[in-house]
Amino acid sequence: MKINGNGNRGNWGSRMGFILAASGSAIGLGNVWKFPYITGQNGGGAFVLVYLVCAIIIGLPIMLAEFTIGRNTFRNPVGAINSLRPNSPWVVVGFMGVLAGFLILSFYGVVGGWTIAYIVKSLGSNIAHFETPEKAGEFFGTFISNSSEIVVYHLAFMAICIGIVIRGIDKGIEKACNILMPALLVMLVLLMIRSLTLPGAFEGVKFYLAPDFSKITPEVVLIALGQAFFSLSLGMGCMITYGSYLSPKEDLATSALFVVIFDTMIALLVGMVIFPAVFAMGLEPAEGPSLVFSVLPAVFTQIPMGGFVAILFFILLTIAAITSGISLLEVVVAYFVDEKGWSRKKAVLFSSSIIFAFGVPSGLSFGSMSDVTWFGMTFFENVDNIASNYLLPIGGMLTAIFIGWVWSPLEAKKEIERHGGTFRFAGAWEFLIRYVSPIAVAIVFLAKIF
Ligand code: TRP
Repeated sequence: MKINGNGNRGNWGSRMGFILAASGSAIGLGNVWKFPYITGQNGGGAFVLVYLVCAIIIGLPIMLAEFTIGRNTFRNPVGAINSLRPNSPWVVVGFMGVLAGFLILSFYGVVGGWTIAYIVKSLGSNIAHFETPEKAGEFFGTFISNSSEIVVYHLAFMAICIGIVIRGIDKGIEKACNILMPALLVMLVLLMIRSLTLPGAFEGVKFYLAPDFSKITPEVVLIALGQAFFSLSLGMGCMITYGSYLSPKEDLATSALFVVIFDTMIALLVGMVIFPAVFAMGLEPAEGPSLVFSVLPAVFTQIPMGGFVAILFFILLTIAAITSGISLLEVVVAYFVDEKGWSRKKAVLFSSSIIFAFGVPSGLSFGSMSDVTWFGMTFFENVDNIASNYLLPIGGMLTAIFIGWVWSPLEAKKEIERHGGTFRFAGAWEFLIRYVSPIAVAIVFLAKIF
């Protein structure tokens, strides 16, 4: 269907489908795995508050910017920038995005594999039998160092993403998200009820929601901003790509607002599952990256119906990871389809095989390759560091500068209003995108280097 000169690249079937898919991209391991543990490490409520400010003031304007570039050009990030400013050095920003998609998916797929493994292990009731988090931690450590098991689950995760993306936009990605996102929400609500009805749960709610402003330091602000980028899937053209399949009759500004609200809401709800349970069981909220894989299994061991809760939780985590993984793959696929004229099938099979192969050393980074390090970091940590701490913030900053100063906010506003409405916050948006976002991200980025 050629509704917008989009050729045969594919289109979203409905606005709700698009919003669910974009929310599916945003809602991922970043919300369910990372957000709780960095909130735990950075003082609870105060961190949540700073995060909200970052998501609204910086995340939302950049999300809208990416949607706008995508829908105006119907292209992947490289093609989009090329068509707005042909033969300019800005195309590098597009390439950085495609590269970031490649790199992030290579290690994201490894963690996605862990989540599938934990579903399988909780079905075999192997997960909810740890007396202490240390024992659960040991179990996790043994598991992630088992090379063959890791590679198999990593492959399983990639195979699911391939199976979805190869079916295209409306029949693949949109359809999967239409089923998976509501399922995720239902599981989340069930888990929250379980968690909040545990005796002692209120201590966790207090830790999570009562801000202690003495905890807000410049460091906390930086971490919150970086998290906002990662969690909202910004800075690498993922939302450019998703926006490129959108029809001109849809309202971009409202869609961006919905996606930011959904992503934030889910992150907050996940916290309402994890902290009440962790506090009710008298465990440590500041445990770090192993919070979900070792503290929670210890929690599941102690609570009534824990075995079932464990299954539910890891299915939820896997769903979140899949709907994000497919969005990362789609960026790379769209590049080959648009720029090289490949069929979707060829683009999916080619890019996912290389991404998988490149991810294998990341998968082995906790076992047989744990001694292979550069700059004091394992392969996994290096790839994560380059993509998340460099490519994303620089990409986000350059996207904001590109739309605010190079392409024009006026042209962008026309695109935003193409559905026939008026964009009432155009003035505020222009100010945020021209000044606030680039400066804020530059500060984060510089602080990461020094
Ligand atoms: N936002 C996802 C999460 O929270 C991860 C993700 C998907 C992502 N696509 C992205 C992160 C693009 C950065 C850029 O897990």
